[in-house]
Formats: sequence, structure tokens, C-alpha cells
Amino acid sequence: MGKIVITGASGNYGRGVTDALIAQGRASDLILITRKPEKLAERAAQGCDVRYGDFDKPETLAAAVQGADKMLLISGTRVGARVVQHKAAIDAAAGAGVGHVIYTSFIGIDDPANPAEVRHDHIETETLIKASGAAWTMLRDAHYADAMILMTAPNVIPTGKWMINTGEGREAMVWRDDCIASAVAVLTSEGHEGKTYNITGPQLQTFREVTALMAEIIGKPLEFVPIDDESQYAIFDAMGIPRRPVDDLEVGGIPWNSDDMVTFGQAIRGGFLEICTDDVERLTGRKARSVRQMIEDNVEMLRSV
Ligand SMILES: NC(=O)c1ccc[n+]([C@@H]2O[C@H](COP(=O)([O-])OP(=O)(O)OC[C@H]3O[C@@H](n4cnc5c(N)ncnc54)[C@H](OP(=O)(O)O)[C@@H]3O)[C@@H](O)[C@H]2O)c1
Repeated sequence: MGKIVITGASGNYGRGVTDALIAQGRASDLILITRKPEKLAERAAQGCDVRYGDFDKPETLAAAVQGADKMLLISGTRVGARVVQHKAAIDAAAGAGVGHVIYTSFIGIDDPANPAEVRHDHIETETLIKASGAAWTMLRDAHYADAMILMTAPNVIPTGKWMINTGEGREAMVWRDDCIASAVAVLTSEGHEGKTYNITGPQLQTFREVTALMAEIIGKPLEFVPIDDESQYAIFDAMGIPRRPVDDLEVGGIPWNSDDMVTFGQAIRGGFLEICTDDVERLTGRKARSVRQMIEDNVEMLRSV
């Protein structure tokens, strides 16, 4: 099946994909890119080819992708400013003759009216990949339920109020693990060239509904409080979260910038993320897991915050 090069291999998503492929006996087919190879020493010991590569140093990427047949380009973390990074990886792949690029994109990006800041990064990256000459597959992930619920909960449960600017908009949040399993399916089976998948959870829900579900399952009062964008910025500003992306920075357990998160809220409120598919099941053979199950599986942690 050939060699697979993975960018962002040391991150949450990259680790999940790598674990699954190693479990399938594919360690020696994997080329893992990182700025700090020592982070992946354990992977090297497992038989993976760990290589130095930095999106910000395009000259490092040509050697990093050499010999790969497919590239899983896991989108970078510098939201709003990462197209140039992705371009460096795509150019390197094209130069090395990598035949198929699989990219972790985001749902709802075709509509130019979608205010989500990530839209630009993803649509421009998809366009660059399509123009690169390689075969391509777009994995347009919905919001991760893990990110939206488990990482937010410690900040909202103690206050008894979930204050958020999503209005009555709905989205179908997905388990990151289901996104990872979908990516693994695309990497290890045939027929995905030229396809765009919308990797979503099984059900469209408002945050009012998610708040009620959380309250019911953890057995604590939690009120949904719709707020406007300025109030949402004020909450993040008070937490010390930067408006623009800062590399490798986490504030209050949150690694994102507020322009990113506030415009996500706008996108949800405007219905731009109201997309629900069975692509997880079509790719992996099992149903996408629900927000309810995510809360139930983490109930002890959520009760203790
Ligand atoms: N749909 C959603 O709700 C959602 C939620 C969260 C994230 N995401 C997307 O998923 C992506 C991966 O998330 P994650 O949680 O796995 O991220 P993460 O754990 O923060 O990992 C980030 C990865 O990016 C790599 N990286 C950062 N700067 C780099 C550079 N200059 N050159 C090369 N590599 C660089 C890091 O590699 P090294 O440090 O090893 O170099 C690391 O492996 C995110 O960027 C985002 O696009 C989507």
C-alpha cells in the first residue's frame, strides 16, 4: 500500500492516526514529520521513520516527504495564518511526486458568507491541493465534541452557566476518534481520490440542547445563556486568551485564539455548520458516536470540575 507521510504527527490527531496504523502493522510504512524528533523517539523505536520538518522552513520539507506515496496533511494550528505553511507542505509533496494528498479540512467552507475564520485557511488549502497535480481527498471534520465539550466544561460547569454566542444554531459535533478512524480508513482503502467527506456526528443539536444534556447527565444545574459576540470576546479576553493565534500557547486549557472561537460561534448561529452525514459510518463501518455518549463516558471528570 506504500508509504504514508504524516504532518503534525506528534499532535492529538496525528498520534491517533499513527497508533491505529501501527496497530495494523504499518509502522515501517510511516514517515512522521515533527520539528522535534525527540518527541517521537518512541515511534522511531516502533519502526516508524521520524523526520525533521518545519512548515515555516520550506527547505526542510522536501527531504521530509521524500519517498512517500501518500501524505496526510493535518492542518496546522496557526488558525487564520497557516495557508503559507500548508503551501510549503503541498509544494514539497508535489516536488517529491507524492501521489495522493489527504487533508483535514472543515465543514461548511464552500459558502463565502460563512464567517468562521478557519474557512479561508481551509478553502485556500483545498484549492492549492487540487491545483498541485496530486490526487486528493478532503476530510471536512465537524467540530470535535471533545474540544467543544470536554475542554469547555471546566470553564462553564463551576459557574452553572454556559454562556456562548451560538444562538439557536445547530451543528453535529463529532468525536475526534471518529475523525481519526475515518482518516485511517481513507489511508488504508481504495477509491477515495477526488472525494470530499463531511465527517460529522450523528445528530444536529443546539448548544441549548447540549447544555440541557450536560445538566441531566452530570446531575448539576447548568443554564444556557445566549450572548452576543462582544460578550463572548470579553469572556475570552478576561481569561487572557489572545485574539490572534500564538504558536504552542494554551490558556485555561484552551489552545485556540478568540477570533477563531468567536467566529465559530457566529458560523453556528448563522446555520453555516448545519451539516450532518453518515460519512463516518460509510468510511469506518460503524456509526458515529454521539455527544450524549461523550458526556456519559466522561461523567466522573465532568462532575469533578
Ligand atoms: N474540527 C475541530 O473541532 C478541530 C478541533 C481541534 C483541532 N482541529 C484541527 O486539527 C489539527 C490538529 O489538531 P491537534 O489537536 O492534533 O493539534 P496539536 O495536538 O496541537 O498538534 C499540533 C501539531 O502541529 C505540528 N506543528 C505545529 N507547528 C508546526 C510547524 N511549524 N511545522 C511542522 N509542524 C508543526 C506540531 O508538531 P511538532 O510540535 O512535533 O513539530 C504538532 O504535531 C488542528 O491544527 C486543527 O486544524 C480541528
